[in-house]
Amino acid sequence: MNAPEYVDITLPAGRKRSLTLSNDALLVIGVPVYMGRVPALLGDWLNRIEADNTPAICVVVYGNRAYENALLELKDIVQSRGCIPVAGAAFVGEHSFSSPETPTAQGRPDQNDLA
Ligand SMILES: Cc1cc2nc3c(=O)[nH]c(=O)nc-3n(C[C@H](O)[C@H](O)[C@H](O)COP(=O)(O)O)c2cc1C
Repeated sequence: MNAPEYVDITLPAGRKRSLTLSNDALLVIGVPVYMGRVPALLGDWLNRIEADNTPAICVVVYGNRAYENALLELKDIVQSRGCIPVAGAAFVGEHSFSSPETPTAQGRPDQNDLA
């Protein structure tokens, strides 16, 4: 088995290179949920993925409001790029807008989540 390759697409510099996947690879892809959707700013990069019947595990992270269509949308995108979605998951993480005054999913994921 080859060592895993990590691609951080958080910042524009990380999205300069397109992702090309062979059919003996496994893609594990995670994106945050913005307004119940896959963030629009990731659309260009996601729609440049070139896969060859590559199995894919889709993950979305949301701030404990709702993930709405994001997981389905991510699944549809990678499928349209040649992946075969084999699993999906939605995980709660502390909301970007959380503050001491308005804590939202503060400290998540926590021990209960991990258990
Ligand atoms: C613009 C924006 C929209 C968001 N929309 C949602 C949402 O619809 N539902 C939800 O549960 N969390 C929402 N969140 C919270 C994020 O999904 C969550 O905090 C995620 O961990 C942010 O990851 P990031 O820090 O990599 O952007 C939103 C956050 C931002 C910044």
